[in-house]
Amino acid sequence: MILGIESTAHTFGIGIVEKGKILSNVKDAYTTEKGGIIPMESAKHHARVAEEIYRKALNDAEISEKEISAIAISQAPGLAPCLLEGMKFAKKKAVELNVSIIPVNHCVAHLEIGRLTGAKDPVLLYASGANTQIIAYAAGKYRVFGETLDIGIGNFIDIFARHIGLGFPGGPKIMELAKSGKYVEIPYSIKGMDVAFSGLLTNLKQKFDSKKYKIEDLCYSLQETAFAMLIEASERALAHTGKKELLIGGGVACNTRLQEMCRIMCEERGCKLFCPANQFLTDNGAMIAYLGEIMFNKGTKIDIKDFDKLDINSRERTDMVEVKWR
Ligand code: ATP
Ligand code: FE2
Repeated sequence: MILGIESTAHTFGIGIVEKGKILSNVKDAYTTEKGGIIPMESAKHHARVAEEIYRKALNDAEISEKEISAIAISQAPGLAPCLLEGMKFAKKKAVELNVSIIPVNHCVAHLEIGRLTGAKDPVLLYASGANTQIIAYAAGKYRVFGETLDIGIGNFIDIFARHIGLGFPGGPKIMELAKSGKYVEIPYSIKGMDVAFSGLLTNLKQKFDSKKYKIEDLCYSLQETAFAMLIEASERALAHTGKKELLIGGGVACNTRLQEMCRIMCEERGCKLFCPANQFLTDNGAMIAYLGEIMFNKGTKIDIKDFDKLDINSRERTDMVEVKWR
């Protein structure tokens, strides 16, 4: 059994996996009424809830901690104070239980957990807070075919939400407001398979500040435009690679309108859409445990004697990870 710890940003989560089966997935997220994430505050949140989440994950899985063979930790990328808190907790538990640690890349875990849905060799649309990438596996690595040239789509949505007085996370609130909105034109920004959101953000902020537009219309137009950009880039990647599956991942993939647009595009192309359950789309410990187990079975682990050399890696990219397990 592998226990996985997630702590890269707002969420502290622990999941337990055995032979690819999720036995538990418990989390608690730092949120705000207004304003964005303050990394040090989020790290304090993680320190405060860690032990309780750990107990609850063991309880839900109905196992004792002695049954754990190794601890997987989201080592990269993320906010340094949050990553450090998770690493500290992982090392403490690993020493107590006398087990090794499996360092996992958070982004790759977002992708690999999609395999639970049955996707075999998909193009992945990874749409989360800090990241927006269109990825496909080729020759030993997850290659990034297209990505955001500035901010991640979730951060873009959250910054606009903050601007109009909504707290963090803004995505679900914008989604609700968008349901009763109509389209107004905002810039559409795609370059090849890359996308950019800062122009849209400025334009939306200006429109909001002018007080000439309904909030609902701005939210609707934000979604229709930004998601259409993601669909266009994803479709291009499907055409280029000849792959027949689209998998979505990351917190923004919880958005039902984005899911619908993906479904329509896939139907039109004769491709199949795979969408994991929401609990596996936003940050969670189960995805870390799930990929951790796969890596562990291929021999990746850091023993206790080497823990002083084991550090966080806040900037590791998806395409830097050597995929030894496929
Ligand atoms: P990363 O994986 O890049 O490190 P993260 O860990 O912050 O980013 P996730 O937990 O995967 O990201 O996703 C959080 C983001 O998902 C937030 O920006 C949030 O607003 C967004 N989000 C959650 N639900 C929805 C929704 N229904 N519609 C749009 N966005 C959503
Ligand atoms: Fe994430």
